[in-house]
Amino acid sequence: MQLHGWIIYNGSLPGKKFIDFAEWIQAAAIHKGGTASIYKNTELLAYLGEGNLEILHLQHRKAPDYIVFADKDIYLAKQLEKIGMRVFNSAEAISISDDKIASYQQLAANNLPIPKTLIAPKSFTQGEPDMDVMKQAIQLFSFPMIVKEAFGSFGQQVYFIQTEAELRIKLAELEGKPYMFQEFIATSYGQDLRLHVVGDQVVASMKRQADNDFRANVSAGGKMEAYTPTIDEQELAIAATKAIGADFAGVDLLFGPDQTPIVCEINSNAHIRNMFDCTGINVADDMIDYIYQQLTDFQKGE
Ligand SMILES: Nc1ncnc2c1ncn2[C@@H]1O[C@H](COP(=O)(O)OP(=O)(O)O)[C@@H](O)[C@H]1O
Ligand SMILES: [Mg+2]
Repeated sequence: MQLHGWIIYNGSLPGKKFIDFAEWIQAAAIHKGGTASIYKNTELLAYLGEGNLEILHLQHRKAPDYIVFADKDIYLAKQLEKIGMRVFNSAEAISISDDKIASYQQLAANNLPIPKTLIAPKSFTQGEPDMDVMKQAIQLFSFPMIVKEAFGSFGQQVYFIQTEAELRIKLAELEGKPYMFQEFIATSYGQDLRLHVVGDQVVASMKRQADNDFRANVSAGGKMEAYTPTIDEQELAIAATKAIGADFAGVDLLFGPDQTPIVCEINSNAHIRNMFDCTGINVADDMIDYIYQQLTDFQKGE
């Protein structure tokens, strides 16, 4: 089967990281015997009129059998779905994954283990945080606790808070943004697991360990090593991916008491180069295999 794919990434982000992801997917698509074009989201403009949803200048492009959406431009992903294109991951899954509060709500609703979390009430102003909410958070989690923004990556919007004074300063900074208070999982200090899920399988895994930080993110100095996950860890990562409706995802697990796994986050656009560097597994090939499988099942009417 010779399929044509589109790979869409964000045209506004600096650095090579994102085009890199797109090129790896493209190479996997070609390796599979198909073809694939890479587009920036800025090259595919979504246009609306009464009864009309389209992508401008679409006629100049070869129509795709599938799209790998390596971007968080959810409006564009949704527009592509609305005009009948098959987008991996779906706009809905990308949007839940992008928003950590929405992700934890989905996980909790599916009975999956997460750190206990208090969602900060929406605030439109900047300035003094609500003292009653702050007191409630301290009563629930005491110190140290985690404060985490709903939107963030590379560990940069996750804060380790040790005193009430620190909490007050951080909350004043965050006023107007969505964030949450969270129980600190002390047994996982500086370490976590990253399991890469494709469909019903964990295809590659690593453990990340930081020496001088509570965060295990590689961008925060965490060191990677290949890891063989337990059945429990695999099942949890797969269930978490399904809970947000994703086809594939990089799932981060924390080590709870007794080493039981706890979901930390689900990345719908997970890095594939780090995973390859660490394990020698190119998950792009698994992702393309999965997409081909999905499209064949679809044609067979399953
Ligand atoms: N509740 C928590 N308890 C302990 N460590 C945490 C907790 N939340 C996050 N971390 C640590 O911080 C890192 C970054 O948090 P995460 O929620 O994954 O945000 P990001 O999207 O920035 O990676 C995690 O990989 C983990 O090491
Ligand atoms: Mg993370």
